[in-house]
Amino acid sequence: MATYTFPKDFLWGTASASYQIEGAWNEDGKGESVWDRFSHTPGKIKMGDTGDAACDFYHRYAGDIALMSDLGLNAARISLSWPRIMPSGKGQVNQQGLDFYNRVVDELLKRNIQPWVTLYHWDLPQALEDIGGWPNRDLAEYFRDYAAVVADSLGDRVKHWMAFNEPWIFTILGYLMGIHAPGRREPVAAMKATHTVNIAQGLAIRALRESRNKPAAVGTAFSMSPVHPRTDSREDRAAAERWHQFYNMWFLDPVMRGEYPQAYVQGSFADHVDIRPGDFDKIKAPLDFIGINLYTRAVVAHDPNDHNIGVAQVRAGGEEVTDFGWEVYPPALSEMILRVAKDYPDLPIYVTENGCSYGDAPGPDGKVNDQRRVSFLRRFIGEVGRAMQAGADVRGYFLWTFTDNFEWAEGFRQRFGIVYCDFDTQRRVVKESGHWYSRLARSGALDFDPPA
Ligand code: FCB
Repeated sequence: MATYTFPKDFLWGTASASYQIEGAWNEDGKGESVWDRFSHTPGKIKMGDTGDAACDFYHRYAGDIALMSDLGLNAARISLSWPRIMPSGKGQVNQQGLDFYNRVVDELLKRNIQPWVTLYHWDLPQALEDIGGWPNRDLAEYFRDYAAVVADSLGDRVKHWMAFNEPWIFTILGYLMGIHAPGRREPVAAMKATHTVNIAQGLAIRALRESRNKPAAVGTAFSMSPVHPRTDSREDRAAAERWHQFYNMWFLDPVMRGEYPQAYVQGSFADHVDIRPGDFDKIKAPLDFIGINLYTRAVVAHDPNDHNIGVAQVRAGGEEVTDFGWEVYPPALSEMILRVAKDYPDLPIYVTENGCSYGDAPGPDGKVNDQRRVSFLRRFIGEVGRAMQAGADVRGYFLWTFTDNFEWAEGFRQRFGIVYCDFDTQRRVVKESGHWYSRLARSGALDFDPPA
């Protein structure tokens, strides 16, 4: 066993998303989101689950934040529901929606928990989907206006912002694969959506910075996985690098450098999507930090039948997996951090999500003894320490997630929380992993077995 001691000012938090925890889907003037519509459509979500009530965070936020404080956490990543604040996505502002987030932010600050706020964690106002959704370029400007409204209202107290959560996931799963809201399967529209989101990211970052309430730092939380080739062949290695560019860099290189990475087998993105003069001036708005959301690695092979990126995802095979079926591969985290640190040397890094799904429930003694989660966290957070020892400037870790919650298309069956949530009674039980994380947050000292 080695011990790694994290710096005193390291942030130890949890991450969450509005739709996954809030409930109150139609209260106090909130507009419908694409996730409301999607989950209310039969057959889209396992077991017909919806986020209508979720963890009822809308009414129970004070208790949950008190529990975070009891556990000794010093930061919390939350997201804002755009349709709660602007019911039809543009124009009219719903003061009751803003009031709710003002109460949440005040409650966090009262407990000495730093609020880290994401503008968009996938709950697009349905009214904007009705005019075409993210493939419609106009949404970039509506998003900027929304960012300006929230910066004006919350920015005197919220100093750390993320424009988007996992832009790759909601554009590709929502518009190409159709398994997330709005459930479209339209390859051309999906790639247009990625371009609008890149423009929206640049515009919103500027809006935050131009607000009278100056932010301390603005970033985005990117879904990332180091990409390994299935074999050592030249084709597979080239495919792995293309997938790295497409999956990990598609929204990072544009905002940092004003250009798209090279990911297509032939030609470039400009051959596929209408890029207009001036777009890159809007898109480029270098970030103050990079947020990494990481759960596992990717293994890919060259796929000659895919004429775009030319990649097929494959299973690594025979590996340890979580209850979600995701491979448990701890070195993924240090590898990814070090690659980002190498490509963007001067930017602080935050792990904005990392965690695992295991279905453990309270036992006869009332305790939730989720030792597999403890083992997962110990190993992954150990990799954060290893990356820091190798020189990476990592400043915080946000565990996904605090309470078990609505896990998108999987509904309530995938439990990622360090706090068990009984969705019938809304009772919370801190899991063993929650107590373990609390000790780590308080001491900053992690015991772990470094890989051989
Ligand atoms: C991430 C999402 C988050 C959660 C975890 C398990 O991709 O950002 O909302 O669903 O996966």
